[in-house]
Amino acid sequence: MTLKIAVMPGDGIGPEITKEAVRVLEALRTDGLKVEFEYAPIGGAAYRETGHPLPESTVALARASDAVLFGAVGDFSLDTLPRHLRPEQAILGIRKALNLFANFRPAMVYPELADASSMRPEIVAGMDILIVRELTGDIYFGTPRGHRICEDGPFKGDREAFDTMRYAETEIRRIAHVAFQAARKRNGKLCSVDKANVLETTQFWRDVVTEVAKEYPDVALSHMYVDNCAMQLLKDPKQFDVIVTGNLFGDILSDEASMLTGSIGMLPSASLNENNFGLYEPIHGSAPDIAGKDLANPLATVLSAGMMLRYTFGMEEYAARIESAVKAVLATGPRTGDIWRDGKVKTGTQGMGDALLAALAAQ
Ligand code: IPM
Ligand code: MG
Repeated sequence: MTLKIAVMPGDGIGPEITKEAVRVLEALRTDGLKVEFEYAPIGGAAYRETGHPLPESTVALARASDAVLFGAVGDFSLDTLPRHLRPEQAILGIRKALNLFANFRPAMVYPELADASSMRPEIVAGMDILIVRELTGDIYFGTPRGHRICEDGPFKGDREAFDTMRYAETEIRRIAHVAFQAARKRNGKLCSVDKANVLETTQFWRDVVTEVAKEYPDVALSHMYVDNCAMQLLKDPKQFDVIVTGNLFGDILSDEASMLTGSIGMLPSASLNENNFGLYEPIHGSAPDIAGKDLANPLATVLSAGMMLRYTFGMEEYAARIESAVKAVLATGPRTGDIWRDGKVKTGTQGMGDALLAALAAQ
């Protein structure tokens, strides 16, 4: 069976980085991987082409494919458009349309990069965290939301804007199960992050996660407030194994965790539905300032392609080959500017892709 992968390059550096990930997947063809690619526009690129950031045909291609490889969306020049036409709505819309509620964001420090982190090497060396972020609920999608005239309190009569943080029990349960199962396959530790001291929604989150924990007596569950977690990630990141949290907190904490690893250009992600169908994307954005300049680090996208082989297709062997090619390049190959240091050859996006292909061939 040939795997059909929908490629959605998107905006900014999206096209450059997805190109390198596709080259890496294509290189595995010589070893028997059967893949084919079909492309669809998304984000600002789709808006310019079709008048909408998430055209129906793009969602249809995703549905007709076995997995999605996604670049990035975001384009400052379109930020003045009405919200529903902005590039970011495309990634939110496709996550929702495909019910991709479980977002895996691993943050690990490669020994070769321990000195690229802004943290002292002894704090981060050996760190290996998996953030499981709920991706289709929370304040990101909660209704009602909008603008209105304030009806009460000291600012009555003023203009105000509002969003709604909400979670249904089923939404919390299903992501909790995903996180407990992930913890079981790793070191058996799960930390659920909330703001239960202030927010009803997240007290409920804590209660439901605690109930689900009864089904996983082999996993050690702890709870942490999000502000403390933000601090603990900097103070002692190695205390964490799996972190499970809601959409908003997960967005923020995963960016923070990425910097511990040295560069946000290193972090892949998988967004899955209940059948392990998934969309795979780097956690970084479209980086318009460096777009088209052959400067972007493609490793997060390449590693996302690796996650695709593992999570959606169960092809552990090919996934491991991609990961070891990445490690080999980090150890001895050239590097893009974000992870470059003295003594290393500086290269660009394509140069990084070339080095990966050479490393794969040498395995
Ligand atoms: C991410 C991004 C998105 C999010 C944006 C682009 C809407 O920051 O994937 O983390 O907030 O989820
Ligand atoms: Mg984010």
